[in-house]
Amino acid sequence: MEVLILNGSPKGDKSNTMYLTRAFLNGAGWDDVEVIDVIKTNVKGCLGCFSCWNKTPGKCVINDGMAEILAKMITADVIIWSFPLYYFGVPGRLKNLIDRQLPLSLPFMAEGTESGGHPMRYDVTHQKHLVISTCGFWTSKGNYDAVIPMFDHFCGKDKYTAVLCGQGELFSVPELKGRTDAYLETVRRAGAEYAAGGIRAGTQAKLAEPLYPRDVFEKMADASWGIAKGENADVPADESHNFTTQMAALYRPDGVERVLEFHYTDIDKTYQILLTKQGSEVITENFKPYTTRIETPYSLWRSISRNEISSNRN
Ligand SMILES: Cc1cc2nc3c(=O)[nH]c(=O)nc-3n(C[C@H](O)[C@H](O)[C@H](O)COP(=O)(O)O)c2cc1C
Repeated sequence: MEVLILNGSPKGDKSNTMYLTRAFLNGAGWDDVEVIDVIKTNVKGCLGCFSCWNKTPGKCVINDGMAEILAKMITADVIIWSFPLYYFGVPGRLKNLIDRQLPLSLPFMAEGTESGGHPMRYDVTHQKHLVISTCGFWTSKGNYDAVIPMFDHFCGKDKYTAVLCGQGELFSVPELKGRTDAYLETVRRAGAEYAAGGIRAGTQAKLAEPLYPRDVFEKMADASWGIAKGENADVPADESHNFTTQMAALYRPDGVERVLEFHYTDIDKTYQILLTKQGSEVITENFKPYTTRIETPYSLWRSISRNEISSNRN
């Protein structure tokens, strides 16, 4: 099984999306796998001259890295399009590569298509496509409305499988590894099922579940930028404040109101997390009488959150 991965993330192998792609591959158990980091290739934009259709059929006039990629795309049994969502589309460098597929098709109008199409120049009936992508919003739902029809057109509707995941930035956060690893395990299972004939409905439903509930994710995401919200948006926010806000976002309201006071002894800073029936809020002044006060070095909290130290240790 010849597998070609077209990694469209400009971050190369540091890509969040590639966590999913690697988990899928791991489950599928394929061994002949090649990854092309599109960012490292020399693939220019299409000139729109149609020479590859009339003057030099099947061959592009641009002399760059695309000819080699096209040769691999013809023989691959599985092509995995792995990319982050950019402006509700594919990243520009990957779009260049998509456009440069033109030599793979013939200029004639294909019969039996709803809105028009071109027949393939080569026999690629053995080939399958996978679309694996992460995006930055809390859900993939609604955010791929421009991308999906594009793949429907050039891969063929229902002829490819898509794994789309919101909250993509979380895959590279070591503090959240417990949750992201559980999701990656589902992706791994999807890979195994795909290789055995198709992803089961139960696995697909699990893949569609958000990593965290929307409100939790959005609070964590807002705090992750390291800048204050609102009037002070151009002022870098204190790191321990961000950390406390992210920690607070993970608390689930359980109907009991509490005030947790954190005093970070090594940096001499105090925060209160107000847990209400609606959610959580971090305050830095006008403190309320606390339910629990925790005095611990900030550095220790960081280590616990990265799983470097167990919080259960006595
Ligand atoms: C220029 C740019 C545009 C983006 N546009 C969107 C978008 O339209 N919708 C979305 O949900 N996320 C968007 N994102 C967030 C990325 O899709 C998200 O961070 C993704 O997980 C990055 O994956 P990667 O690490 O594989 O590159 C955008 C990010 C950048 C840098």
